[in-house]
Amino acid sequence: MLTQDEIKQLVAKQAAELVQNNMTVGIGSGTTIYYLIRELGKRVKKGLFFRAIPTSKKTAALAAAENIPLAELNAVDSIDLTIDGADEIDGSLQLIKGGGGALLQEKMVAAASRELLILADYSKLVQHLGKFPLPLEVIPFGWKQVQKNLRETYQIEAALRLQDDQPFISDHGHYILDCPFDRIDNPDILSYDLNAIPGVVDNGLFINMADMALIGYPDGKTETMNK
Ligand code: A5P
Repeated sequence: MLTQDEIKQLVAKQAAELVQNNMTVGIGSGTTIYYLIRELGKRVKKGLFFRAIPTSKKTAALAAAENIPLAELNAVDSIDLTIDGADEIDGSLQLIKGGGGALLQEKMVAAASRELLILADYSKLVQHLGKFPLPLEVIPFGWKQVQKNLRETYQIEAALRLQDDQPFISDHGHYILDCPFDRIDNPDILSYDLNAIPGVVDNGLFINMADMALIGYPDGKTETMNK
């Protein structure tokens, strides 16, 4: 039986094979994507050339260490393929992302991509989104008003994400509120409504964005889910 880490390596290896010469590829963030970057680094050493659009500072640093050429989103018109992880995936490929706090840049890169492939181990598959607290990226100024709004509108107590006892700061200088919805029945409506709250930059619901998901299992099998 494979460990969770070995499953992540397995799907990362398969996904790395989809990257072809001269492609522009969005590279996600998180522990699964760490293995993808390592695999792509090996392929670059053997002569593969592509340019990567990173979705976080951490991913940019990891890719640079593997000599993967990087480009900014503003430097390209569109992206051929983005490969990213997820915190939850439902049966119609709707996602919760942002466990690592990179949701804003991840969503912008995904939106610019012709194809979005999600890599995950089977534990990320859910019937209903929402058990994983939904990350909400907010402007630090007045964030408690957003928290109050969520309390009054949805009767939830959103938690300010901390790191070393201080507010976690995203790559773009924002805070993250983790929202315990428990069960999200209409993710598209919720996503729209959350983004309409003043002070909210974006939320971790990725609706109708993923085209494919590659799911790994402990027995070494993988399953492809298509839109
Ligand atoms: C980062 O902000 C997230 O969206 C990640 O893609 C997500 O948290 C999955 O990460 P892991 O691969 O580490 O589980």
